[in-house]
Amino acid sequence: MSVAADRRTRFDRAYYQRYYFDPHTAVASRSEMRARARLIAALVAHMGLPVRRILEAGCGTGMLRTELRRLLPRAHYVALESSEYLCRRYGYLHGRIEEYRARAPFDLLICYDVLQYLPGAAAERALANFGRLCRAGPGVLGAAWRATDALGPGDAGFTARVARAWGDRGPTE
Ligand SMILES: C[S@@+](CC[C@H](N)C(=O)[O-])C[C@H]1O[C@@H](n2cnc3c(N)ncnc32)[C@H](O)[C@@H]1O
Repeated sequence: MSVAADRRTRFDRAYYQRYYFDPHTAVASRSEMRARARLIAALVAHMGLPVRRILEAGCGTGMLRTELRRLLPRAHYVALESSEYLCRRYGYLHGRIEEYRARAPFDLLICYDVLQYLPGAAAERALANFGRLCRAGPGVLGAAWRATDALGPGDAGFTARVARAWGDRGPTE
């Protein structure tokens, strides 16, 4: 979505009503999110990555989730959210992307349009956590990051945070 990142955003009912559910003020459409999900599934297929476990970190109203579950029906999907409103409404796992720990690693981790809402240090902790949560470590994540970053206008500060979080390992290694 193109709403300016506001780290004090309250992710409550009014927020989702305005930016997702009301067709007059929504900033993301189902067709756009379906296309993104197809892009992710195509990238995974191109990489030959077997996907049994998916983590969507900050899954919002679930628009990617709906399509990805259709495209990758055999994968177990964990939808993680910090919004109490969404967790009550959709039954998501309630937690924060910078703190969440899992018993088993994930083959695919998706975090779309979330990190810019976190203060710098928390965003860096989230990125380091993603490296722990992914079976393939930061390599696959980095490849996906570069691919998605290339698709839209970057934010220089944010890109620098990503680079710092991955350090010398280099995201495509
Ligand atoms: C702009 S919405 C994007 C939602 C979804 N990824 C999408 O693209 O439709 C940002 C979402 O990130 C969630 N979020 C923000 N900070 C989070 C955190 N620390 N841990 C988990 N979710 C978080 C919010 O509750 C909100 O639903």
